[in-house]
Amino acid sequence: MNQIGIIGLGTMGANLARNFASRQIKTAVFNRTIETTKEFIANFGGEGHLTGYETLKEFIDSLESPRKVMLMVTAGPATEAVIEQLAEILSPKDIIIDGGNTNYKDTIRRTEQLKAKQINFIGCGVSGGEKGALEGPSLMPGGDLQVLEEIMPFLEQIAAKDFNGNPCVHPFEGIGAGNLIKTVHNGIEYGLMQVLADAYEVLRKVYNLKPEGIAEIFKDFNRSELNGFLLETAIQVLEKPDTFNKSEKLINYISDEAGSKGTGGWTVEAALEYGVPVPTLAASLFARQLSAWPEQRLKDKALFPRPLADQITKDPLDIFTAKLEQAVWLSCIVSFMQGIRLIDEVSLKNNWGVYTGDVVRVWQGGCIIRTQLLKYFPLIENGKLLESKLPTTTNSLAYVYSIAAKFGVATPALSNSFDYIAYSTDPNLPTNFVQGLRDCFGAHTYKRNDRDGVFTENW
Ligand code: 3PG
Repeated sequence: MNQIGIIGLGTMGANLARNFASRQIKTAVFNRTIETTKEFIANFGGEGHLTGYETLKEFIDSLESPRKVMLMVTAGPATEAVIEQLAEILSPKDIIIDGGNTNYKDTIRRTEQLKAKQINFIGCGVSGGEKGALEGPSLMPGGDLQVLEEIMPFLEQIAAKDFNGNPCVHPFEGIGAGNLIKTVHNGIEYGLMQVLADAYEVLRKVYNLKPEGIAEIFKDFNRSELNGFLLETAIQVLEKPDTFNKSEKLINYISDEAGSKGTGGWTVEAALEYGVPVPTLAASLFARQLSAWPEQRLKDKALFPRPLADQITKDPLDIFTAKLEQAVWLSCIVSFMQGIRLIDEVSLKNNWGVYTGDVVRVWQGGCIIRTQLLKYFPLIENGKLLESKLPTTTNSLAYVYSIAAKFGVATPALSNSFDYIAYSTDPNLPTNFVQGLRDCFGAHTYKRNDRDGVFTENW
């Protein structure tokens, strides 16, 4: 009998199946298009422990009880359709594991629906791209603890390793918790990528550096605590030669219209719903959205002339890059902080048992946002500061942000990180003024800083 079944043989599903099989776990695979299954088995069946099935029934019948079926199908209607089919043929106590980028609210709903048939459901965040799926992803399964315990031995075998060599997987207690954690992982991913884009932007527009020059600076950064998957990828992207213009870099020919598939937006939605500010992550999403308006940007260019735009600085580059490194460092830390605080709050409000120390541990290996910086986390747990100091100040962030602004260059992730830190560490904010305005025009009331109670003024 097979020990686990994978439905969906796209790149991620195919590689996960091969990963399970490579650990001597007997793995059944099924794909809606039979040809894909045949091709997969023809290519990889020789690796052993992999069996393809042409019908869902045969696939299900080949699994030992309780069956463990992992869905690697596009989130949304496709996943919904497979779950409906499975609900008809699975037995009580069987477990469906959804490994797609599913909205955690869908997981809560599906878990409830399947409960009626006593079928267990786990939403499992999977990160690592195709390579991670094959060699070791970061896994974020969430749901009922008892059910999670049944699948953990399998997930532990295929997961990446954390800084201490333990598997990058943890049973996150809470229906939907795994998907929410993966969603916020992606939201942080948007932030980290925008931080690097901001650094690239200042270096090319204020210092007139070419991609290869920026790659060298990023290589230096990558030798520090900033070391991580996205920085390594950034270097690769900057160094890739173009196929059509052989003496030039591809990056110069990639259109600046950025896409997004939804999880960054879900992160911001959750932040709004739970009242947790994530300005760096939101600004990174909005930057992509602005980028996707090319015609509007051309029109707006005529509206807002930028004084020093298209000029370059004569200030020494080495001093600037040292400050830039610290600015990138802080902005990455802040991106993580915002995401982690969001997970903490959603967990608290939903009575999940998620400890964000486990979350950051699981992100130490395999996933897209893995970086040495994670050694600083968790900084805050349930609103409580766990460590009192980070080894840098915001001076560098302010410096880089102000130089960029002077030359008319936007750095949405860096500037929002600066504002986040400045606001979240200030015991005397100008929001007393906002409160005054609100009470003046709308009798919205205000609190005082010298006595208790709620007040309104006859303005
Ligand atoms: C993914 O989940 O594939 C990405 O890491 C996030 O995708 P996006 O940038 O297309 O939203």
